[in-house]
Amino acid sequence: MIVEPCTHDLEELEAFLPDSMCSTSKDAAYVYNEENRITAKKLYAELYDLRVSDWEGEIDFYRELIANSHLQTQGVLEIACGTGRVTMQLAEDGIEITGLDISPELLEIARAKSVGIPNVSWVLDDMKAFEIGKRFGYIFMPGHSFQFMNTPDEQVQCLEQIKRHLVIDGLLVIHIDHQDVGWLAGLPNNQEELVYQKGPILTHPATSQQYCQDYAWSFEPSTQTATVRTNWEQISENGTTAQVWEMEPAQLHCVYPFEIEHLLKRAGFSIEAVYGDFSKNKLMDDAEDMIWLARKTK
Ligand SMILES: C[S@@+](CC[C@H](N)C(=O)[O-])C[C@H]1O[C@@H](n2cnc3c(N)ncnc32)[C@H](O)[C@@H]1O
Repeated sequence: MIVEPCTHDLEELEAFLPDSMCSTSKDAAYVYNEENRITAKKLYAELYDLRVSDWEGEIDFYRELIANSHLQTQGVLEIACGTGRVTMQLAEDGIEITGLDISPELLEIARAKSVGIPNVSWVLDDMKAFEIGKRFGYIFMPGHSFQFMNTPDEQVQCLEQIKRHLVIDGLLVIHIDHQDVGWLAGLPNNQEELVYQKGPILTHPATSQQYCQDYAWSFEPSTQTATVRTNWEQISENGTTAQVWEMEPAQLHCVYPFEIEHLLKRAGFSIEAVYGDFSKNKLMDDAEDMIWLARKTK
């Protein structure tokens, strides 16, 4: 499974951490094996909702797009829905919504939230190759998930699947990072120079056990790929690290504005708007996000 940073913008990860929480070396014994990765994936999913909150205005933005539109009756497909952070809030409004994700661990959390809610369904699939057997009025891709498409072929395959699943006039919304090239340029591009940082201590909602993320970023300019390596540490009662599980490194493609414009046009979409935030402000140099609205016109 692919993982991602726990704050909204890659650079924020550095900004909120005091220097004392940064380290250049791992200070506990790491065992690299598949079993550890399975535990790490589960922890990632079970602690996801503690780490990721809504962007300001995000849910209202989606609500407003749906309200009073004839497309509403065609329902919403949310791609890479994770634990259903966005899905469930739209479902609670009575919107017919389907959440798709590649992670069984994340979907398990999502499913548990939707028990007894008839207007939500979940699909375990890959955004590059899925077939749901119906077309939707809206397809939303919140939370920078399109950045998990790491090659031009993957990006186009994903957009082609999306187009096939939209009705004519259907609307696609892609929410991605607006890259901070200064921050990216400061990241190492090799493993030797990685700087590990610790995230906040999180209390597991079911076990009350405490965990902390230990993570390090690198960047490969030639492929525009930011990679985050994450270890989940279990914190013992005396504050020391009891156990460590290593996640598979996650690779996020750093998409630039012209690139997404080319991609959407190549995939046959008509671009309606691009915003720098969910208040619909213009995409300016200092914007942290890009929100692209593209319509399937034929
Ligand atoms: C940053 S999380 C965002 C989750 C959710 N949209 C949110 O905003 O809270 C990225 C999500 O993309 C999913 N993902 C990554 N690659 C995928 C793929 N190829 N197909 C479907 N989902 C994928 C991950 O499993 C994860 O749930």
